[in-house]
Amino acid sequence: MFESLRAVPADPILNLSVLYRQDTNPNKVDLGVGVYKDEKGHTAIMEAVSRAQERILSEENTKAYVGIAGSKQFCDLLAQVTLGADHNVLADKRVAVAQTPGGSGALRVLAEFINVAKPGATVWVGNPTWANHIPIMQSAGLKIKQFPYYDRASKEVDFDGMLATLTADTQAGDVVLLHGCCHNPSGADLTLEQWQTTAELVKAKGLLPFVDIAYQGLGEGMDEDAAGLRLMANLVPEMVIASSCSKNFGLYRERTGAAMIISSNAEHAILTQSQMNGVIRANYSMPPSHGALAAETILADPKLKQMWRDELKTMRKRIKDLRSQLVDAIKAEGIEQDFSFIERQKGMFSFLGISAEQVDQLVNKHSVYLVSSSRINLAGLNQHNIAYVAKSIAAVL
Ligand code: LMR
Repeated sequence: MFESLRAVPADPILNLSVLYRQDTNPNKVDLGVGVYKDEKGHTAIMEAVSRAQERILSEENTKAYVGIAGSKQFCDLLAQVTLGADHNVLADKRVAVAQTPGGSGALRVLAEFINVAKPGATVWVGNPTWANHIPIMQSAGLKIKQFPYYDRASKEVDFDGMLATLTADTQAGDVVLLHGCCHNPSGADLTLEQWQTTAELVKAKGLLPFVDIAYQGLGEGMDEDAAGLRLMANLVPEMVIASSCSKNFGLYRERTGAAMIISSNAEHAILTQSQMNGVIRANYSMPPSHGALAAETILADPKLKQMWRDELKTMRKRIKDLRSQLVDAIKAEGIEQDFSFIERQKGMFSFLGISAEQVDQLVNKHSVYLVSSSRINLAGLNQHNIAYVAKSIAAVL
């Protein structure tokens, strides 16, 4: 039965970590996978998470199953963090929430949920989008179409192109996948005015907005980064949201996230919760507990919550500073090409905007690891390697 199978190509993002580990060049730099790193190049456990874990270790008294939708307290707190505690969709009990194995788990649960509601529905994803969006949606049975998103010449969102395609080519009942903030891979986000225009279009055409918010807090702040999504939720009757605690709580391997479904009224929310739970039960049955328990311990304790917010602010500031420093370091190499767009973009990622051959040289000649699209993770830079990275970029240019 298995003889006819062919190998799946290595994951374009995760395989970079494998190659990086194998590289013996002492100057190697990892700008690949989207994990935050500190000045020492280490992905440390956040202090608030360590404190929460100590508490869990001394207080947790069972390993019995959690429910299909995970911890109710986690779901409530994460919905408040994502939507804002006073959002009217929460007050109106229009939101169904499930704790999921990471943001990817949330994406898959929501994709399958959509496939139950409208089998074979079309999901419009931006060009470009996170590489794994497409296989996740397709594995759930959904069809993919693309709208223009990033203009590689201006290094800005191609908002006119996006609007034109979504206006002309979508049908009622199609799904539009948007990044809540810190667009992966481009770092180019919609402005609030653009969110407003998109929300009006989505509503007028009867589309379902699907917002993936995996980097909340890494751009401008927890509330600022969710402002577009909250505005969208104010305007449309139905919407789905995949939220992740991987980056903002640094809980990557604990697989912690949430799937949220906003319905037009409280009765429908009860139905959507049961359908979502059905999808989960037929898949992984129920989510792992530990990461969500750590996140809810932090969010429920004002002191730990403040500590976490402060740590997140430090991370955010470091990424912003690195953006400016990289632009300066490239300039210092005498490069005429303008890289100042890197300073205007948000979150961990930007495209360098160089060719695949130049990326290949950076990886294979200089041991600077980045995705073939030229996406870099800014958080992989530090005072020790930034000049080397700028020099290497100058060399391949
Ligand atoms: C990334 O884009 O690097 C992260 O979201 C990690 C992943 O799973 O791809």
